[in-house]
Amino acid sequence: RIGKSLVIAIDGPSGSGKSSVARETAHRLGLAYQDTGAMYRALALVCLENGVEVHNQAAVEALAKRFYFEQWFDPGVGMVAAGLDQERALDVTDEIREPRVSEAVSAVATNLGARTELIRRQRAAIESVRSRMVVEGRDITTVVAPQAEVRLLLTASEAARLARRGAQLAASGESQTAEQVAAQVLARDAKDATVVEFQRAADGVVTIDSSDLDFEQTVQAVLRLVRETVGG
Ligand code: DC
Repeated sequence: RIGKSLVIAIDGPSGSGKSSVARETAHRLGLAYQDTGAMYRALALVCLENGVEVHNQAAVEALAKRFYFEQWFDPGVGMVAAGLDQERALDVTDEIREPRVSEAVSAVATNLGARTELIRRQRAAIESVRSRMVVEGRDITTVVAPQAEVRLLLTASEAARLARRGAQLAASGESQTAEQVAAQVLARDAKDATVVEFQRAADGVVTIDSSDLDFEQTVQAVLRLVRETVGG
């Protein structure tokens, strides 16, 4: 399918493993990779760094329209830059994963005006790579790219998700306890679920439950679905 459009839309809750699985899928298929959660996180970080109250709907929406955001779509890079404008943009790849950002991001992600703007940017990003991209988030199969050739919901049991998030944080040297992580992840998913449905698969979306699959098995399940759907 060289040259033909191939958008693989992947949604799922926190800790479903969708980021690492989406990135690896892109790598193996030679596709670009877009992590849309990084855009919400970057907007939250730019709010925090510039004194914009994340619950101030109008101010966050205004910032969503003008903040600078760039994501490297090569799945081997995974770098994100953001700031008030291009001149003041910095590499925020690591900062957007900090707990203060994870705590603030739901307020931004539930701001419908801000969402409209970020969705517009995400669609433009897909077009910029001639629609050859793995795109991952919460509303990709339903809102950002419902026309995607492959649409899948990656789920995992609550226990599996919390264990993975805890392991991720431990590996990144964060000092949060398992209980803090669990409370944060569940609260965030509950809040996010008020504006986007990512716990149940929409019509035409295939569910892959990774609770009992390791990383490689999950990637294989995704690659199999891609082959079954688009051939090759
Ligand atoms: O996947 P993540 O943890 O990096 O997502 C960060 C936040 O952004 C989380 O609160 C969910 C939200 N999000 C969203 O609402 N829609 C998306 N397409 C991606 C993320």
